[in-house]
Amino acid sequence: MSTTPQLGRPDRNLALELVRTTEAAALAAARLIGMGDKIAADQAAVDAMRIVLDTVQMDGLVVIGEGEKDEAPMLYNGEQIGDGSEPSVDIAVDPLEGTTLTAKGMPSALSVIAMSPRGTMFDPGPCVYMSKLAGGGDIADLLDLDRPMADTLALVADRRDVDIRDLTVVVLDRPRHEDGIKAIRDAGARVRLIADGDVSAALLAASPRSPVDLLWGVGGTPEGVISAAALKSMGGGLVTRLYPRDDAERQAALDYAKANPGYDLDKQMTQDDLVKSDDCVFSATGVTDGDVLQGVRYQGRRSATTESLVMRSRSGTTRRILATHNRDKLRSYSGERYG
Ligand code: FBP
Repeated sequence: MSTTPQLGRPDRNLALELVRTTEAAALAAARLIGMGDKIAADQAAVDAMRIVLDTVQMDGLVVIGEGEKDEAPMLYNGEQIGDGSEPSVDIAVDPLEGTTLTAKGMPSALSVIAMSPRGTMFDPGPCVYMSKLAGGGDIADLLDLDRPMADTLALVADRRDVDIRDLTVVVLDRPRHEDGIKAIRDAGARVRLIADGDVSAALLAASPRSPVDLLWGVGGTPEGVISAAALKSMGGGLVTRLYPRDDAERQAALDYAKANPGYDLDKQMTQDDLVKSDDCVFSATGVTDGDVLQGVRYQGRRSATTESLVMRSRSGTTRRILATHNRDKLRSYSGERYG
């Protein structure tokens, strides 16, 4: 994705342009925190992100977007974005990751975007869900969806020189996870249940000095690909496997696999399979307060602050960007969108 850098010369870092898109989406969605309308909050984030994306110099193709064109008028899968100039890139967007969290004013909603060179981002096809196991880079080699969770927890505890009861696994609170949650508890580890937001949970599980050790469970495929870009940049570990919801989806996935070599329902895919490039970038901005990022805060009528996490796998640089936005000025040229 970098425009053929010469050795020793720093190249362009698109992540620093992309952070404006997640900031804009977060600022727009934040107006709707706690208002009980997840669709309106999502729409506000999509509109704001889309406008700023047009200002980015790139030839972008939305690989992970808001859905098919007939259901998503903007940021749909296959949409071309950016001004059309080099570099050619794949884009994954989730303008509002945690729509219900935002509507209910609950923690850890984010706006996220990831980018990698054209043709390197995994297209989930018909599968909406995937199984996921994520953790820090120090335990990446221990992550295996086929090993019983109790055994993995024992290995992680041993590697980290702690007791199993010191470990915490973050899991989406869903009926489909009942058996898995029991297995974690029976092994003696603790469980942190979350209502939504497994991108934020993956970031937390992969962070050093985090209150959680692992993310486990079945979540969205788009969120899996976005998490992969983040974990490649921050050095975490992730294994995933496609998880068809029913026989019809399984059959659709098998048909899709025939036309798409490499698409395999049985394979465990790591972050390197989901994003096949060492030159990807990721940006997330907090919408509501969470463990990973502070949400949008208003400072009087005039200003608002955002906190973003901006990462690039090529350099391994991780930046936390605290921005102060002048609401008066933003309103004056963009209407109420950021107000
Ligand atoms: P939304 O932002 O679309 O509300 O999704 C949030 C989320 O919790 C993701 O973080 C997660 O991967 C997925 O939904 C889980 O899907 P489901 O709610 O169907 O179990």
